[in-house]
Amino acid sequence: SSVTPLKSAPVPARERLDLVERPRRNRKSEWARRLVKENVLTTNDLIWPIFVQDGVNTRTPVTAMPGVDRVTVDIAVKEAARAVALDIPVVAIFPYTDPDLRDPTGSEALNAQNLTCRACRAIKAEVPDIGLLTDVALDPYTSHGHDGLLEGGRILNDETVALLVRQALVQAEAGSDIIAPSDMMDGRVGAIRAALDEAGFMDVQIMAYSAKYASAFYGPFREAVGSSGTLKGDKRTYQMDYANTDEAVREAELDLAEGADMIMVKPGLPYLDIVARLKSTFGRPTFAYQVSGEYAMIMAAAQNGWIDGEKAMVESLTAFKRAGADGILTYFAPRAAEYLRKGK
Ligand code: PBG
Repeated sequence: SSVTPLKSAPVPARERLDLVERPRRNRKSEWARRLVKENVLTTNDLIWPIFVQDGVNTRTPVTAMPGVDRVTVDIAVKEAARAVALDIPVVAIFPYTDPDLRDPTGSEALNAQNLTCRACRAIKAEVPDIGLLTDVALDPYTSHGHDGLLEGGRILNDETVALLVRQALVQAEAGSDIIAPSDMMDGRVGAIRAALDEAGFMDVQIMAYSAKYASAFYGPFREAVGSSGTLKGDKRTYQMDYANTDEAVREAELDLAEGADMIMVKPGLPYLDIVARLKSTFGRPTFAYQVSGEYAMIMAAAQNGWIDGEKAMVESLTAFKRAGADGILTYFAPRAAEYLRKGK
């Protein structure tokens, strides 16, 4: 390497600092840095979110997410097979619902033949070794773009939970392995756990979006699932205020008490303090979602030649590990897995 060994650069005695500790010694070469490396990103840490749409053999680029396409179910099956080949343990399914199928109560969410369920069945049939995660919330299915029932300008909690429970059951029946409630209604984890157990789905896991903040970083996702044009108002009566930390602890505590197997923080990089605090407080499997806007920022800067996109990708994903995350939902998953396979 190009590193000059320190011993070959004698310093005149009067300039030599009398130091016992020289932290740079442990950084002097590639092998020395590898030896003291504290956190390592592996493909085991990756969850790959995939957007699905109706039709056959069609990819539709998501404008604000360069390199990410919405894909038809037949292609989603191939992506799942690619995930297995790349050693990615889990794919997450997000549907683009035809606008004609959206209504005020999100009834398509309960249709056992909806896009999410069809994708789950097709993937499970062809790629049985992949883990399947599905999002529970009404927003891809409602005409107003909210995650719950809207009445008189308010999002109803308990009435929404009753629907989310049915949505979760429909997904479990379709083969989902991990139910991920992203709606932020109170009490939904406990209600979903009870219903899953009652229906015999004791082994279906719950990954709770425990600390999900009302964030500007979800913009490109809403384009991808087609809810950006429809969303009325904002989600601040259910998603958390980004000024708060103690509230995240309370939310995670409740979700764990209600039976969550895994907790999640969302968005990711701007919320690493929350990841670190939840991991150190509870010591439970803790995940982070590097959301669409975070992906878009890195890709936009990279496309302008302002940053090295691949280096920024790996650095950001490793930062999640450093903060204590057990895994990361990231649109970079296939590229990160390919990068890791190159043995960098
Ligand atoms: C649905 C949901 C959202 C995301 C995941 N699940 C959007 C939202 O809450 O408005 C965002 C993911 C991303 O931005 O990548 N409730």
